[in-house]
Amino acid sequence: MGGSLYSSPATPRSTGEEISRRAVLTSAGALALSACGPRDAQSQSVPADLPPLKTVAPFRVGSCVQALRLDDPALADLLAREVSQLTPEWEMKMEYIVQPDGSFRFDAPDRIAAFARAHGMGLLGHTLVWYAQAPPAFEQLDETRIRFADAYRNYIHAVAGRYRGQVVGWDVVNEAVAEDGAGWRDSLWARKLGAFEHIALAYRTAREADPQATLLLNDYNLEYMPAKRATFLKLAERLLASGAPLTGLGTQMHVAADIAPGKITQMIHELASLGLPIHVSELDVSLTRSDNKLLSRGELQRRQTAVYAEAAEAFMSLPQRQRFAFTLWGLRDRDSWLKKENAGDAPAPFDDAGRPKAGAAALVEAFRT
Ligand code: G3I
Repeated sequence: MGGSLYSSPATPRSTGEEISRRAVLTSAGALALSACGPRDAQSQSVPADLPPLKTVAPFRVGSCVQALRLDDPALADLLAREVSQLTPEWEMKMEYIVQPDGSFRFDAPDRIAAFARAHGMGLLGHTLVWYAQAPPAFEQLDETRIRFADAYRNYIHAVAGRYRGQVVGWDVVNEAVAEDGAGWRDSLWARKLGAFEHIALAYRTAREADPQATLLLNDYNLEYMPAKRATFLKLAERLLASGAPLTGLGTQMHVAADIAPGKITQMIHELASLGLPIHVSELDVSLTRSDNKLLSRGELQRRQTAVYAEAAEAFMSLPQRQRFAFTLWGLRDRDSWLKKENAGDAPAPFDDAGRPKAGAAALVEAFRT
């Protein structure tokens, strides 16, 4: 175990040798290759020699990943081929790390970190503070033993300190803005430490723990909701004005295929107006979340390709110093979180077998220009 809410992070960080040995041992139990299904129309319209995304993009291209999925050699190979950055999809969050007794576990995020290290990839830390996760150990903290603020700082130091030198950036605070953009979200952190102060404290503490990492503020629906985007930017400006070490903005971009053309471009340009590096942090393009229920599957797939193109072109239009990274929330359809909501969705740029779809070709086309 690596520390706890009650102890300062005296835990030595995992050494490269230790975690790479563990990664080798665990990956030895690799699952059988999954059968490759038939090629769908989307995959058939893609050149057979499409170059890997990371070889044509002038910035890091990322994907989320779950530790156990690294047992799938087909996925491990696809990640190694296509991306230069990994975001732990859930195992670097409090829900995984903080145990009921307040102790921390790092086996899964260490495994993802080891894979990234072994493949020369950056690691995007996701996420230190999120309104959606307040483990019981925090909620039931025995404040006669330790003040809540100290436990909060202990946690950030323990996690951000552990991956210091490997993490290229942290989503320090995730989804701070209210759903309707009318303010900031309520949370255990806000109630205990202050609506603004808990956010500023998180950035200051993350910077103490990691002097180099880009410290990002990450949120979603910024392309769909101008009011939310405005509040997000106001929060970023207030953090900067307070001297908090905010050094990047993340826009998740969980979008639907029928999103109106231009919304993504408008959002990217407005976010870039602060001059900070921008992270397209969780891009997927749902076929089944579309509002327009009259569109055929073929038309939705065509629009999906156009959305991938717009997202990549909008990102490419930024100056190089503002292109932090371009991250997909899953490379293959089968790995997408959206499959839990609708098994018929196919939101990713690669199909279940890891073959590039027209969306992947659109990304390559935009990145290589
Ligand atoms: O794998 C375990 C399984 O062994 C266990 O039995 C089961 C029940 O506890 O949990 C399974 O883990 C789940 C994990 O996804 C893998 O499927 C977690 O409970 C579940 O909480 C986790 O959900 C993740 C979610 O964030 C919450 O952390 C999703 O994968 C992930 O895609 C989603 O990602 C979020 C971003 O962090 C923030 N932006 C929105 C995005 C989508 O919701």
